[in-house]
This record gives sequence, structure tokens and C-alpha cells, in this order.
Amino acid sequence: MTTIVPTSTTQSLAASLATAGVGSLTVPTYDRFADGETLAAVPEFDDDHAIIVASTVDNDAHVELLQLQDAVREAGASDVTTVIPYLGYGRQDTAFKAGQPVSARAVARAISTNTDRVVLVDPHEAGVTDFFDVPTTIASAAGLLAEPLADLDNPLFVAPDAGAIDLAETTRDAYGDGAVDYFEKERDYDTGEIELTPSDAPVAGRDVVVVDDIIATGGTMSGAIEVLNDRGAGRVYACCLHPVLAGAARTKLAAAGVERVVGTDTIERPISDVSVAPAIADALDE
Ligand code: R5P
Repeated sequence: MTTIVPTSTTQSLAASLATAGVGSLTVPTYDRFADGETLAAVPEFDDDHAIIVASTVDNDAHVELLQLQDAVREAGASDVTTVIPYLGYGRQDTAFKAGQPVSARAVARAISTNTDRVVLVDPHEAGVTDFFDVPTTIASAAGLLAEPLADLDNPLFVAPDAGAIDLAETTRDAYGDGAVDYFEKERDYDTGEIELTPSDAPVAGRDVVVVDDIIATGGTMSGAIEVLNDRGAGRVYACCLHPVLAGAARTKLAAAGVERVVGTDTIERPISDVSVAPAIADALDE
């Protein structure tokens, strides 16, 4: 038997994993003390094998994950797998300035202390797997992003920076038609300001799908959409694996003239139309 234990941030995806036959669900409790501390618990958990599903989208979610790992051990689990659909702090995978932490390593070490295995879904840098002290694998959901796309006119799949080219190619391959292009991106570390340099690929009248791993503030994606619309593109779609969509990001995309925003359920947002459950189920079987 296997019991799936979701954190409060990852309940829909955990339900999809249960539907996919990965295990049965237990219902945790998520409480908060008057001083703000969280208390996640598993009052009905009774199994040897637990799969904790936790997108660590904020600091509370990190603590909830650590609490649930500890709670299932307290309740007798001998084998704990931790699935992290979205790894928070994954982009701070190096100390960019003197005195900074390698935050991804810090959280990975903490998560490793109470689990036997970790599965990440498309982290920002694959190298973060080395930061964990237990066997850690990657489930790739890139091939699923094209699912909602249909009837595109002479499509062009665009990576808003060189780091997203593979993702744009995989999405094009999954869609089955179209060309791939990418922009050069420079981001000022201190101000966060972004400068995008498009290539010369013709976009006038074509449907364009901009593909990135993360939409956080929406600066990168809305900048790309604006450039494409200025150049006379047809419909412009924004696709991402991890729809962080912080602050006014969703509005920025709308104001830039996006046709549709497509994201996965690694982070549960209104635009999370693609489920990564099949990719996680495959990775758990490996
Ligand atoms: C950066 O390398 C990532 O792939 C994304 O482009 C970035 O995280 C998006 O951030 P934002 O939405 O804040 O521009």
C-alpha cells in the first residue's frame, strides 16, 4: 500500500495522482497558531509507505513539507518519497554575490533529512539534484505543455531566453508542427529590469507560442508578448511549466495582449490546465 500526503499547496495534483493509481489519499490537517506558526498533521495516516506531494511555493509550504515528513515517520512510515512539483528557491542555485547563500542547497539539505527519495518536476536547473543527500530524480513534463494547443496557424515556438530553447523544441515536437526560435535576454540583477533582443524570424500573421519554465513576475513573458505583437504576430500564447504568477503577473500578460496562458498544476492557479500527474507517475515507477 502507498498513501499520498499532500501539502496544502498541492491538493489538486495529489488528487490526480490518486486517480492515476499512484496510491490512496490521506486527509491532512493544516492549522496555524496565533503567532503564525503552521501545524500540518496526518491524523488518519496508517501505512508503511508515504508519498508526500509538496510544491514549496513559499516559506510556509517548506515548513509544511518538513512537518508532514516528520508526521508520517511519527505515524510509522518506514519508506518516505517526497515529490516536489515546484521547488521553491531553485533559482538561487549559486551565490550570485559575496555573502549570499546557495538557497537551493540549503532547502535540499533540509528536505533530505527525513525522506528516502526525492522526485522533482523540471527544476529550473537540473544540477540542483546534486544538492539532495538522497537519491533524487527528475520527472519531465515538458512534453505535456502542448496538450491544450490546437489549430495554430503556421506556428512559431519561441523561447524568451536561450535557457528555454529545449523546452520550446519539446513543446513544438509534442504539438507536431512549427518552427522554433529564441530571444536573447539580459536581466539587471539589481533592478530586475529585462532587455529582450528578438531574432529576425518572421512573425507577421503567425501564431506564436512563447514557452518558458517559470512565469514569476511576468516581466520576461509580457516583454516577449509585447515584442511579438509589435511585430504583427497573429495570436500569442504563453506556456509555462511553473505558473508562479506573483503579484500582478497575470494582468501584465493580459495587458501585453496574450491570447491564452497555459500552465501546469505544479502550482495550482486558474490557468493550470495541464496536469503533470502522468509524468510524476512514470518517474515513480522508474
Ligand atoms: C529564468 O531564467 C526563467 O527561465 C524565467 O524566464 C524567469 O524565472 C521568469 O521570471 P519573470 O516572470 O519574473 O520574468
